[in-house]
Amino acid sequence: MSHPADTYKLTLVSVMSDVYDKIMDLAKRRGFIWPTSECYGSVAGFIDYGPLGSMMKRKIENIWRHFYVVQEGYYEIECPTIGQEDIFIASGHVKGFSDKMCQCPSCKEYLRADHVAEGQNISGAGTMSTDQLAEVLCKLCCPACGEELGKVEVFNFNLMFATTIGPGSQRTGYLRPETAQGMFTDFSRLLRFYRDKLPFGAVQIGKSYRNEISPRQGMIRLREFTQAEAEIFVHPAEKNHPMFSRYAEYRIPLLGIEQQLGNTEPRTVTMREAADLGLVANEYVAYYLALTHQILTTIGVKPERIRFRQHLCEERAHYAEDCWDAEIFSDRFGWVETVGIADRTDYDLRAHERQSGQRFAVFLQYQTPRKVRQIRVIPDMAAMGPRFRGKAKAVAEALCACAPGPDGVTIILDGEEITIPAELYKVREEEVEIQGEEVTPHVIEPSYGIDRMIYAVLESAYDEELVDGEERKVLRFPPQVAPVQVAVFPLMTRDGLPEIAAGIGEQIRRKGILAEYDDSGAIGRRYRRQDEIGTPFAITVDYDSKEDATVTLRDRDSMRQVRIPIEGIAERMRGLVEGSISFSEL
Ligand code: GAP
Repeated sequence: MSHPADTYKLTLVSVMSDVYDKIMDLAKRRGFIWPTSECYGSVAGFIDYGPLGSMMKRKIENIWRHFYVVQEGYYEIECPTIGQEDIFIASGHVKGFSDKMCQCPSCKEYLRADHVAEGQNISGAGTMSTDQLAEVLCKLCCPACGEELGKVEVFNFNLMFATTIGPGSQRTGYLRPETAQGMFTDFSRLLRFYRDKLPFGAVQIGKSYRNEISPRQGMIRLREFTQAEAEIFVHPAEKNHPMFSRYAEYRIPLLGIEQQLGNTEPRTVTMREAADLGLVANEYVAYYLALTHQILTTIGVKPERIRFRQHLCEERAHYAEDCWDAEIFSDRFGWVETVGIADRTDYDLRAHERQSGQRFAVFLQYQTPRKVRQIRVIPDMAAMGPRFRGKAKAVAEALCACAPGPDGVTIILDGEEITIPAELYKVREEEVEIQGEEVTPHVIEPSYGIDRMIYAVLESAYDEELVDGEERKVLRFPPQVAPVQVAVFPLMTRDGLPEIAAGIGEQIRRKGILAEYDDSGAIGRRYRRQDEIGTPFAITVDYDSKEDATVTLRDRDSMRQVRIPIEGIAERMRGLVEGSISFSEL
């Protein structure tokens, strides 16, 4: 019989040579992703984006902005990445933002206990207590050295990076573990900015920090990563999205609680069905599930790799009304949570209210004032003064705040029981006019991990094929995401061809499109280099170009080539990159 440690070592070996290695090799070689500070030995959980990676990241962030800022109208803010302690006491991160950790007794490696268990097919490890995990780990092996773990202690490790603000180490600060808190702490100013009306939203794209225990998953689990988050403040009783029709007929695969418990496939439904059948809590949640699907497919994630998984009751935060993860399938890591979409109710605003002592609410004026019947308590101060002396005012206030009966009432003031007889007050029912009401908004939060999205795009785009007996590696990025959008080659580095090519490159750049000039090596090798970095179009200037002012335009995916005139080429390239013209129309 094989030892569990052997099985685990085998599993490790069998996953080592999948597409992940090929992508990371290409990403390093061609300047997408690099290990950080390599000259000092890089640190796990941190990466550098090289020249092409940075360019691609910016483009993906701008597509996200297009949807949330331009389409939805939620303006972007930018808050510090270091926050004072109060913020994270209020948010619950100081007390509860921890993962369960243990240390391998053999190799001394610190391990994320639930991941060790999940990696060795123990289900439900994410919701186990420290004691339950310790019991389970006894028989499992260390993923770092393969030795049996045996009896290990499992404890909670807070994931926030702590620091001090200013000299003297007097004020504790934390590197923010999410961008979201900035939108909550700026709530009152945002409310005024949006002219005191609901719904409104604000977004932020920026770095977040989590001191992950054992980040062994490359770009998937980082200690410093980029989030793009939206906080949408809505009336608690009005959770129908005003623009729901935009996505009502949009279909996406939902792996709800029912499908997970029944171990069945996701159910593909329209957002109208999802909302009407109660598969999602409300239209807002449905709307952002669909919008997320549209963003992910726009940036180039294959639709068959996307599903939306609802949080099970035991994994959902106690205050959340509904919570879904957009998961993307990765050959190495399986289904990876990439976006979280939650109805967080009024939890965050109330938490900051308690911590800051300020009110985080909206006064919503009615269109026409409403008449309501109200009970008014009128204390007889002439009688209460001599009876309660110095406490009379406080007693009267407490009396007005309660609903006293006809036979008197007993109140508690500073721990003392005080009985107020009925002759000391009058109760009147009267009709009053109400101008509006104060409500604490609920928050709908779509939260995106940009680095995970980038990895998913790389994995969806990566392809290899044999062309004329030679391997062609290609990144099939959508043109809007490709770091370089057009390559321009002179066939030869003489006879005026470089000048024509350089001129074409310049015209294209003036239209805001990145065109790379390359004149080194055989033309076939130049095409391969651009295929590998995902450049969708390549233009070659040859001797005919001098005669008839045309060039060859090559399409990366089909490798088809057409002849097009130099005149108007920049406008045409813009059309191709933006998608208003297709290659087959040329
Ligand atoms: N404000 C809610 C929030 O932060 P989350 O699920 O903890 O929710 C949102 O994070 C997204 O941020 C995740 O879906 C994931 O894409 C990304 N993310 C979280 N931790 C990460 C890490 N250590 N490395 C890379 N991305 C991470």
